[in-house]
Amino acid sequence: QAERAATKDRIRRLLKEKNAVMVSHYYVHPDLQDLAEETGGIVSDSLEMARFGRDHAAQTLVVSGVRFMGETAKILSPEKTILMPDLDATCSLDLGCPIEEFSAFCDAHPDRTVVVYANTSAAVKARADWLVTSSCALDIVRALKGQGQKILWAPDRHLGDYIRRETGADMVMWNGACIVHDEFKAFELESLKKEHPLAKVLVHPESPPDVIALADAVGSTSGILKAAREMDAREFIVATDNGMMHKLRTLNPGKLFYEAPTAGNSATCKSCAHCPWMAMNGLAGVAQVLETGANAIQVDPAIIPRARLPIDRMLAFTA
Ligand code: 13P
Ligand code: SF4
Repeated sequence: QAERAATKDRIRRLLKEKNAVMVSHYYVHPDLQDLAEETGGIVSDSLEMARFGRDHAAQTLVVSGVRFMGETAKILSPEKTILMPDLDATCSLDLGCPIEEFSAFCDAHPDRTVVVYANTSAAVKARADWLVTSSCALDIVRALKGQGQKILWAPDRHLGDYIRRETGADMVMWNGACIVHDEFKAFELESLKKEHPLAKVLVHPESPPDVIALADAVGSTSGILKAAREMDAREFIVATDNGMMHKLRTLNPGKLFYEAPTAGNSATCKSCAHCPWMAMNGLAGVAQVLETGANAIQVDPAIIPRARLPIDRMLAFTA
């Protein structure tokens, strides 16, 4: 406890000394979420992390999250130093969509508008026409469909399927998945609903279709927070990474939140939904990279202008 408090003090001091600001995702440890907010940084979904990092005057951003979030920040602000507690913090969607194969997929469908999820490498973004996150994907695909465009979608197949069902857009799909959300189970969720019949079900759209079908609200991490605040209910079952519980509970003290069941259920682990890469972020890592400047994100300068194009389009669309 004393060591934790001392590390937080060290981070507060270093942030000032280095003209740095913290940008944290909702899935990282509560300490990193709270400290970011307390020191003038942000805790948010991936879309607002990108916007905040681009717009903030600080010369150094400490991004607590996964690698694509740091890379997006670097693409948007190549002149800034982007530090991450652990450069090995990746994402199964990014890993499952290598640029060579993705390029061949795009080449095979030259008539389609390429829409990629934020959870991808800089090189994949540089092949895309549009970037989306789960908080704006529906609106962007709906708008593209309205213009008569056919879509090539990558890499999350569950999110892509959900968007296709909702919009009726013509989409060819990459076959990727999030290892965390893919584990939510509909049968067990139905049982939990029976135990808590008044609970509303909140689901992140990276979850399988039969889990999404049981949702009262489907949304990105910020969408889930909004639904929990606005819905007229006291109890909620939440199908997303359990890092989300911290903000849900602190912002809604009178409400109860239960984790949706995963295949990993056992007597000791009621839900095992936590991203192993998000879990690599910690206070010690933040302090260390601020102190030493280690773990600075690098993106090939040759691809930055092209990778920036779909991100800028997304940020302008959602402004
Ligand atoms: P959000 O854009 O909803 O924050 O999601 C990012 C993510 O990695 C979800 O698994
Ligand atoms: Fe990627 Fe899933 Fe982890 Fe989000 S929770 S960073 S989508 S592996």
